[in-house]
Amino acid sequence: MEKLLVRGGNRLEGEIHISGAKNAALPLMIATLLTDETLTLHNMPRLADVAQLQKILGHLGVDIMIAGRRQGQSRFVGETVRYVARDIVDTTAPYDMVSKMRASFWVLGPLLARCGAAKVSLPGGCAIGTRPVDLYLKALAQMGADIDVEAGYVVASVHGGRLKGAHIVFPKVSVGATHVALMAATLAEGETVIENAAREPEVVDLANCLVKMGAVIEGIGTSTLHIQGKERLHGAEHSIVPDRIEAGTYAMAVAMTDGEVLLRDAQAETLSAFIDVMAQAGVAVTEEEKGLRVRRANGALRAVAVETQPFPGFPTDLQAQLMALMTRADGVSSIRETIFENRFMHVQELVRLGADITLMGDTALVKGVDRLIGAPVMATDLRASVSLVIAGLAAEGETEIHRLYHLDRGFEALEQKLSAVGADIERAAA
Ligand code: EPZ
Repeated sequence: MEKLLVRGGNRLEGEIHISGAKNAALPLMIATLLTDETLTLHNMPRLADVAQLQKILGHLGVDIMIAGRRQGQSRFVGETVRYVARDIVDTTAPYDMVSKMRASFWVLGPLLARCGAAKVSLPGGCAIGTRPVDLYLKALAQMGADIDVEAGYVVASVHGGRLKGAHIVFPKVSVGATHVALMAATLAEGETVIENAAREPEVVDLANCLVKMGAVIEGIGTSTLHIQGKERLHGAEHSIVPDRIEAGTYAMAVAMTDGEVLLRDAQAETLSAFIDVMAQAGVAVTEEEKGLRVRRANGALRAVAVETQPFPGFPTDLQAQLMALMTRADGVSSIRETIFENRFMHVQELVRLGADITLMGDTALVKGVDRLIGAPVMATDLRASVSLVIAGLAAEGETEIHRLYHLDRGFEALEQKLSAVGADIERAAA
């Protein structure tokens, strides 16, 4: 077991390279199951979740070759990885693999579309909410799949072997259900329409890659997708979109320390709601040729009122980090979580550092305090973990963050990136 030691007080200054997006990389890797040709993905982040999904894909029969980085590039530039699902050797994704990472459940769509059958373990609950899979199952059933849930597994098959196009209207926006329905539709017979589709940049990235693979998709980036199914897709090369959540996270780390940093490769168009909230908080995030520059606009941080929403709204994946930042703002912030019912696990840990936070149902009221003081805290999920890092950067003394495996799932080289811009942060044996 390892822990992270953060000693607060240093300003962050310089440049941080933003990695490829975890939440785009995962569905893109899964898309390789749709073709027997090679899918080459550039700008792959080195993360525990990517390694775990690679294990699952390997189990299903995918050959994986890390082609490496081009010479002379920084160690933070992503890898190029080639995936070939020439033969699917197993259509079962077992519990011990799927339970480690929820996104691996998404293999259900491509397996069913390509092989006509799939048996995938239900992902189970998770620290941030119950996270059901009803939307996925209804969409695939509408496309002609017979679906049973047996002994913790979704067992699905298609009579005649090929899914049929359908008109799917999602009652609520789901990123994962959109990924799965979209991938399945690319190989279905006829047209599929997906209404109330997620518009997250990671969905757009997947759709753009599927088009390179020969899929016919209209409405990319809107909430209505029209897909003309093809008998087969082919290989392609694709570079993963920069991680907007990593960029937003570092932007708030910089603002917390009153620093100034260029977030290299970060894209403003994927962060507009976040940039507006930062402006209200007194943090300037400005576009430059090479990325986004972050600094306080004029002195103190100001309280904000925010609610999380599907894209283009303020992302739930930045809620914990915003809460950490607002612990040091002037005034009382109100942060409402509308996507997940239990995504406030970081509150108790932030309070341990001296934050003044009151929970009222789905809303947290955060009263800014003059000082935070370092303490041992526990990471409870990926984004909660990094909110503790942000708080630790402003706390007096040492903050000791335990249960680092959450952080390693989704932040590439976090302590190297932060110490390169001046943070006092190190990993140690727990
Ligand atoms: C994706 O999860 C992300 N994960 C999450 O990021 C992110 O928080 C979430 O989208 C929302 O933006 C990946 O991309 C790997 P959803 P996903 O389906 O697809 C409900 C992180 O930290 N729902 O959009 O699982 C669900 O319970 C992670 O990187 C149903 O009711 O999220 C939630 O309330 C955490 N039935 C809402 O929809 C379903 O069948 C949105 O969830 C499916 C979802």
